[in-house]
Amino acid sequence: MAGPPEKDEIDLAAQQSVRDARERTNPLDGNGLDLLFREARSFNGWKDEPISGDDLKAIYDLAKMGPTSANCCPLRIKFITSPEAKEKFAPVMFERNRAKTRQAPAVAIFGMDHEFFHRQPQLTPFRPDDIPNRMKENPDLIPHWASQNATLQAAYFMMAVRAAGYDTGPMQGLDKAMCDEVFWAGTAVKTLFVCSIGRGDENTIFKRNPRLPFDAACEIL
Ligand SMILES: Cc1cc2nc3c(=O)[nH]c(=O)nc-3n(C[C@H](O)[C@H](O)[C@H](O)COP(=O)(O)O)c2cc1C
Repeated sequence: MAGPPEKDEIDLAAQQSVRDARERTNPLDGNGLDLLFREARSFNGWKDEPISGDDLKAIYDLAKMGPTSANCCPLRIKFITSPEAKEKFAPVMFERNRAKTRQAPAVAIFGMDHEFFHRQPQLTPFRPDDIPNRMKENPDLIPHWASQNATLQAAYFMMAVRAAGYDTGPMQGLDKAMCDEVFWAGTAVKTLFVCSIGRGDENTIFKRNPRLPFDAACEIL
């Protein structure tokens, strides 16, 4: 997708819509930044408040707008909410994480689809064959594209959960091969990590670990 947009990709209505949005929106204030970043934590226990399917759909509808390479959108999600699904899911989690996922109102299993390029005609209708051809010519690219872009999308999803006023508890302490077998059998999807979602119980957060300061992680050239 390199180079300037081709004629078919120019969308005057979208350009106007971005101009209009810039007129009426402002950078987030301090409370918004606290909600998304500064006071947002990783939770290990949950209040007894459900999260509805409509809320999960609204969160996905925000998260799906985040960018991916050539709009390839490889993230797939299964939401564990019912008692039956939780029973099926519990053995997949390592012991230390099991109780907290059982107790969570919802757990998202984030998967990456290694056949993401099959959907490319729907996702890049103006150049439907570019990415499928590229992946066929160089299949070594597939796992990298799948994992990089699905991980980005999972991160967008977690930020969308916070923006909706809910909390997250991400975990990769699970048997991913078992999770693939139980939840993604017959597909090309592989488990990335999982994330509990709901209203977090403040009593269950750990001590905040420091983050790298700007000078240790960044350089302005
Ligand atoms: C991909 C990922 C995997 C994680 N795996 C686990 C896990 O298996 N068990 C656990 O208790 N916490 C897990 N965590 C939580 C992290 O330890 C936590 O997000 C980090 O220490 C920051 O905590 P804070 O958000 O409260 O500052 C994971 C987080 C991420 C993003």
